[in-house]
Amino acid sequence: MDAYEAVVTKRDIRHYTPDPIPDDLLHKVLQAARMAGSAKNAEANRLIVFRGREVKEALAGCGDYAGWIGSAPVIIGIAAPREALRLFDVGRMAQNMMIVAHAEGLGSCPVTLGHQDRVRAAIGLPDDWEMPMVITLGRPVAEVPDSPLKRRRLPLEELVRHERWS
Ligand SMILES: Cc1cc2nc3c(=O)[nH]c(=O)nc-3n(C[C@H](O)[C@H](O)[C@H](O)COP(=O)(O)O)c2cc1C
Repeated sequence: MDAYEAVVTKRDIRHYTPDPIPDDLLHKVLQAARMAGSAKNAEANRLIVFRGREVKEALAGCGDYAGWIGSAPVIIGIAAPREALRLFDVGRMAQNMMIVAHAEGLGSCPVTLGHQDRVRAAIGLPDDWEMPMVITLGRPVAEVPDSPLKRRRLPLEELVRHERWS
C-alpha cells in the first residue's frame, strides 16, 4: 500500500480482535509519531502506551464518546504540558501513527478525553499536563460494522475554494 492509498482508504475502526499487537509493529507506529514535526520544533508531546485492562477501562470513563475503548488491545495517549499543548501537533502525531498502523493492517480510531480530572486520577498525570486525545489500535474484526457516524466525505468542489472565499 503506498502513502496515497493508505491515506484515502483509512477509516476509523472501533471493533478489534483480542489479538495483541507485536512489539515490532507497535515500535513502528511509535516511530511514526516520533518523526512528526512540531511547532518551533519544541517536541512537547509525550506518548503513553496502555495495554492493561484496568487502566484502559478507567480511560474509557474519561471521555463522553470513549465508553468502548477498553476493548482495544492498545491505547496510545498523547500528552503535553498544558502551556505547551498544541492540538495541531497532537493531530500530526495521531495521524502519522494511524496511517502507518493502517498500512500494516491495524485498525485505529482517535478518541477525545474531555474529562482531564479523571485522566489525571486514572494515570497519575501531573496537574499541569493534559492528555486530550488517545488513539486505539488493534486488528480489525473480520466484518467491521458501519460507524454510527458513517457518511461520505465532502466532494472536493464543496471542500476547496481557490484564491478567495467567494
Ligand atoms: C478530533 C477528533 C476527535 C474524535 N473523538 C472521537 C471520540 O471521542 N470517540 C469516537 O468514538 N470517535 C472519535 N473520533 C472519530 C470520528 O468519529 C471519526 O473520525 C469520523 O466519524 C470519521 O470516521 P470514518 O473515517 O470511519 O468515516 C474523533 C475524531 C477526531 C478527528
